[in-house]
Amino acid sequence: MTRLLVCAGLGGVGKTTTSAALALRCAQEGDRVVVLTIDPARRLADALGVERLGNEPVPVPLDAPGTLHALMLDRKATWDEVIRRYAPSDEIRDRLLGNRYYEQVSTRLGGSQEYMANEKLYQLVQSGAWDVVVLDTPPARQTVEFFRAPERMRGVFDQRVLEGLLRPSKGLLAMAGRRVTGLLRRIAGDHVLGDIAEFFSLTTGLSAGFRERHRAVHEWLHDRERTGYYLVTAARNTQSHDVREFLGVLEGRQMRLAGFFVNRTTRDPGLVEPIAELQPPAGVEGVVWGRALDGLVASAAAQRREARREGEEAAALVRSHGQVPVWMIPDLGEEVRDLRGLTLLARFLPPSPATVIA
Ligand SMILES: Nc1ncnc2c1ncn2[C@@H]1O[C@H](COP(=O)(O)OP(=O)(O)OP(=O)(O)O)[C@@H](O)[C@H]1O
Ligand SMILES: [Mg+2]
Repeated sequence: MTRLLVCAGLGGVGKTTTSAALALRCAQEGDRVVVLTIDPARRLADALGVERLGNEPVPVPLDAPGTLHALMLDRKATWDEVIRRYAPSDEIRDRLLGNRYYEQVSTRLGGSQEYMANEKLYQLVQSGAWDVVVLDTPPARQTVEFFRAPERMRGVFDQRVLEGLLRPSKGLLAMAGRRVTGLLRRIAGDHVLGDIAEFFSLTTGLSAGFRERHRAVHEWLHDRERTGYYLVTAARNTQSHDVREFLGVLEGRQMRLAGFFVNRTTRDPGLVEPIAELQPPAGVEGVVWGRALDGLVASAAAQRREARREGEEAAALVRSHGQVPVWMIPDLGEEVRDLRGLTLLARFLPPSPATVIA
């Protein structure tokens, strides 16, 4: 059974970075792993090689018992793949690919990125080629948006939504008559209504397949044995409203929270007192040296307080969520842009679920 590990969290907290590091960690333990990244930072994409090949898994050269592949979700390319694969005829395929409403749906429509992440996930799991699929999630203002987006997208294939609008006898257009048609035309251009109507008639034969795959993915994402969610949070922000909301959604859906990733934690500098006893190097005036040391001691002490505060927050997380582990991931002090950085982070991440559960 392919296991799914999902890293979710607010924008910018380190979802993509920790996904890649978690995938590496699993590969180090012997799994065949693929990580599906969403808009990785440029240099991380370079390091993983996903910029080159894009929408298909690329092997990341690794000296490990397992294997690591990475891919970057390309929403448009995935839409096109899906249409190519499932269109009932070449003619329908070509007309859809050239349809201007399809162009909008596949590049811009809200939620369509998450929808295509589902399609990609379906392909990866269905292939049977992986022990573990690590799923990065798109930046969200609120983490719960991630769960809502595919559901919203279902409307795209729901004929009823636009049939109502377009139906000649009873539809909105008929009711409002030429004024609405004229208005829509002016806003959207002459071709729009025709394109929308064509899109719906062309996708009639596809929508059952969309629903079926979506249902399968939905089931996997709710399968507590197969799938675990890691909530990535910033070290300073573990008790936020958003964290609670996300946990509420997981709980409401009976999804399994596998752990917290408290990212970019402050390193405890250790004892600060010995610094104060350092002797000045030759040629440095005692007063100047003293001031420099005071500064160092003060900043080390502040860092130490911060590290402790973060530790206490993590302890509070543990207290409020019983069995759920909390993983403290240090701030590396620089952008994570290569395998070296990922390897450093991987040490702080949980072992592969295959080795734990199996
Ligand atoms: N532990 C860490 N130490 C140092 N830098 C980090 C760490 N984790 C993440 N970063 C850096 O923080 C930045 C944001 O990380 P990342 O892209 O993984 O966040 P994200 O949650 O995926 O963002 P988005 O929501 O935009 O997708 C990157 O530059 C990354 O290198
Ligand atoms: Mg990201």
